[in-house]
Amino acid sequence: MIRAGVIVASDKGAAGVREDLSGPAAAALLREAGMEIVEVRVVPDEREDLTAALLDLTARCELVFTSGGTGLSPRDITPDVTLGIIDRAVPGLAEAMRLHSLAKTPRAMLSRAAAGVRGRSLIINLPGSPKAVRECLEAILPVLPHAVEVLTGQAYECAGDREGKTNPLPNGQ
Ligand code: MTE
Repeated sequence: MIRAGVIVASDKGAAGVREDLSGPAAAALLREAGMEIVEVRVVPDEREDLTAALLDLTARCELVFTSGGTGLSPRDITPDVTLGIIDRAVPGLAEAMRLHSLAKTPRAMLSRAAAGVRGRSLIINLPGSPKAVRECLEAILPVLPHAVEVLTGQAYECAGDREGKTNPLPNGQ
């Protein structure tokens, strides 16, 4: 079972001033997709808190989602912190989320969300509203099991999926 962690970057959420609904929305969809939710954690939009949470959860989960802090306000630093700790960027995930989201709202282009690999874990930034979380996950959920398979060494090639052909190898690799 894929282990997933969710980090909500929200000053108001962390201070208890506003109830965060985006973390539970993400957790519900991920659970529905068959994943184990290891933790949903709310942290303020502070570099140190975000870094600590990302390091902790990437050590324990194959997938780590963040919600919020991807926009243009001076406190929005989630993609910047993410890009600072990943080994390799996976731009296609963020591109797919924005492409899909642009059909819902032109404001999707204002999200600077990023994605990347740290060790054997994949970090994916999501915008902070429950609606945006749902719309973005809708775009990428179908490819995540394969992403985890390749990342964790359970699959080494993707050839079988090309042009809709099935993989001729008996073990599916
Ligand atoms: N993406 C989707 N799918 N749906 C949305 O409603 N909202 C946008 C954008 N991406 C939105 C979206 C808005 S209004 C903003 S400001 C940015 O995400 C950044 O959001 P964040 O600062 O909460 O991360």
